[in-house]
Amino acid sequence: MRLLLAPMEGLLDDVLRAVLTRPGGYDHAVSEFARVSGTLLPDRFFRRIASELECDSVTPGGTPVRVQLLGSDPAYMAANAARLARLGPAGVDLNFGCPAPTVNRHRGGAVLLDEPELLFRIARAVAGALPCGMPLSAKMRLGVRDPGRAQECAQALADGGASLLVVHARTKLDGYRPPAHWEWVARVADAVDVPVVANGEVWTGVDWLRCRAVSGVADVMLGRGAVADPFLARRIRAGQLDAPDAEARAAEWRALLPLLGEFRERVQLKVEARHAPGRIKQWLHLLARNYTGAQRLFAEIRALRTLSEVDEVLIRHGVPPAGASDSRQALTSAPVAARTDSQTPVKFAA
Ligand SMILES: Cc1cc2nc3c(=O)[nH]c(=O)nc-3n(C[C@H](O)[C@H](O)[C@H](O)COP(=O)(O)O)c2cc1C
Repeated sequence: MRLLLAPMEGLLDDVLRAVLTRPGGYDHAVSEFARVSGTLLPDRFFRRIASELECDSVTPGGTPVRVQLLGSDPAYMAANAARLARLGPAGVDLNFGCPAPTVNRHRGGAVLLDEPELLFRIARAVAGALPCGMPLSAKMRLGVRDPGRAQECAQALADGGASLLVVHARTKLDGYRPPAHWEWVARVADAVDVPVVANGEVWTGVDWLRCRAVSGVADVMLGRGAVADPFLARRIRAGQLDAPDAEARAAEWRALLPLLGEFRERVQLKVEARHAPGRIKQWLHLLARNYTGAQRLFAEIRALRTLSEVDEVLIRHGVPPAGASDSRQALTSAPVAARTDSQTPVKFAA
């Protein structure tokens, strides 16, 4: 059985991927999407999204990273895939799941699920542009408004050359509203010969078990659940499916502190200083679903504006100060994207 770490634009970038894959448990991760329009993207664009490309396309903890492309023009998708392939990604993934209106307006993401024939042409063009042996996967939702064409879309992608399909078990119209319709993953899996990975609303070990039972597939991709619970994949692998009790959670929180220290350091290296507190709050906000330590920390830094103010609180809560995290050794040799002024600001919604 495989466990995959989901792409999440604006949340799970190379910084958080580095930290979340340290405890292990994932077979591969997928980068957030690179948007392909009518141009050839420069190498530095791919490297900014996936700094792991500088290190054999693995995270510092050793998890392979596939790079995701989003677009609708088969020829440009293929040309960009060929360019990306020269950088040696662990694989290329195609995005047919993004529901964002700005992306959909330009015919990208989930809106293409109304056009299975185009999905086929994109997958075939990209597959043809990749060197032999480089895996191509695709991530889709169930449809635009309803799942009526989900099987047709999956067949189009598989026939076009995708050797693995991740199905986020909701339509574009569903957005991120629970539930995820895992029973539809079963219908999609029945329609294709390639492996299908179930995705959506897996927050706990018990969710994982139910998702597999309902979907009938062995492989699962974790998204927000992985961010909220960095040890989830490792616990699933160890067969520990029940929620940890308070004592176990407290022990996990202590193990998380060095990872928070590493995250803080990587954030500082990557984003402008004014955006750093937002990134730290964003992760803590999700961690607070599972860790009382994160709830306390979040409550204290919520109103703070500067990294030095946030640092003071982090250190008081036991997060190793900058330069002293346990992962320092790895940090010095690990890929860290250069700070860029064009870095998208992370919005934090309290
Ligand atoms: C903030 C955010 C950003 C996302 N960005 C991407 C993306 O870049 N590419 C993609 O294929 N899916 C993206 N997704 C969808 C996730 O990969 C995943 O399919 C979805 O969150 C459902 O899984 P979950 O319930 O386990 O979170 C994003 C989801 C969120 C919440």
